[in-house]
Amino acid sequence: MQVDEQRFLADLHRLRSFGASGVGKGVVRPAYSAADVAARTWLAQRISAAGLVPHFDPLGNLFGLAEGRSLLVGSHSDSQPEGGWLDGALGVIAGLEIARAARAAGGPAVSVVSFQDEEGRFGVTTGSEVWSGKTSLKEADQFIDNTGTTMAQARGVLADVAQDFLPHDRFSGFVEMHIEQGPALDQSGEKIGVVTDIVGIRDMRITLDGQQNHAGTTPMAVRQDAFQALATFNMELARRFANVVTPATVWTIGHVSLHPNAASIVPGRVRFSMQWRDGDLDRLTRMEQIILELAKEIGQRHSVTVSLGPVMGIDPKPMDVNIQAALAVAATDLAPGVWRNMTSGALHDAANMASVMPVGMLFVPSINGISHAFDEDTDEADLVLGLRVLARAVQALA
Ligand code: GLV
Ligand code: MN
Ligand code: MN
Ligand code: MN
Repeated sequence: MQVDEQRFLADLHRLRSFGASGVGKGVVRPAYSAADVAARTWLAQRISAAGLVPHFDPLGNLFGLAEGRSLLVGSHSDSQPEGGWLDGALGVIAGLEIARAARAAGGPAVSVVSFQDEEGRFGVTTGSEVWSGKTSLKEADQFIDNTGTTMAQARGVLADVAQDFLPHDRFSGFVEMHIEQGPALDQSGEKIGVVTDIVGIRDMRITLDGQQNHAGTTPMAVRQDAFQALATFNMELARRFANVVTPATVWTIGHVSLHPNAASIVPGRVRFSMQWRDGDLDRLTRMEQIILELAKEIGQRHSVTVSLGPVMGIDPKPMDVNIQAALAVAATDLAPGVWRNMTSGALHDAANMASVMPVGMLFVPSINGISHAFDEDTDEADLVLGLRVLARAVQALA
């Protein structure tokens, strides 16, 4: 089979036009937005044009199916609220190109997928999480986004094209190409990363309710200030984590919603996201204990009521050794001396798929290590090299 690099790049740029932010190459294409639905509709047309069969499942995960049992290649085409043009899109279009080239050559059997809501508008990686069976559709339908919309409401926009969930045994494995989204390859000058494992993630929402009051008349000593409670929580958390974490451990308060968010009002309520990631399951659990204990203490210290949402997450996942080996052989052939094995610090659909089929991942460099930002980019030559390595590995595996 012969992949067409120009066609691959043209499709990648076309996908970027859905939800183009107008700032650099960035995109705004969150799951189930008008831009996401338009992009999926276009992808389904490209899938049909390639002689593959488009299939939307109840969540809007979009497959391009080859006949019979096949190897699945892809990623996700939704984006962060402010996202880069390659996060997810690269793996989907690489999968499309390889499935298309394989179909044109009369084999091997390769299908493509674009998972839905990998970026966690609702859960953590909702589309692959539900398909893998980790979370039921009924549970996922209750998930709410930051604006109070439920998953059940949001996925209605794709209801008229939805068919059943596909059986997992239709696929022999899943391979995902992605940008690294970190600085390792860019700094070392290497071109390809063969992923050995994906770190685990935990994510929860916390609400602190104090007393909204006048910012001029309320003495400092009697305030029940939700923002001050969060500020103390954040400072104290770093101190308590210090004995538990390694340099590879990360944690983030990335979403904060302060109420009513006005200069002359002591804030009565804050709702925020608390996310932490590590490759070690025990460490994730110890961090969770620290968070829960500290939240309770902060509640008492600042006279705020603490409400904890459920802890969502995905455990650390190793990649399949045979797929790793096929990727390593292809990388040795096509990128000799400039590839390495590496851990993924970002989460991917592959982590969910690892529970139901053999999975593997391939990384290409991110310029300056930037991702989940409009500035995200990768040299064209690196995108094309990644496609070649992936195609070579797929041929060996399928
Ligand atoms: C992926 O988008 C992640 O948040 O790791
Ligand atoms: Mn992402
Ligand atoms: Mn991604
Ligand atoms: Mn993601």
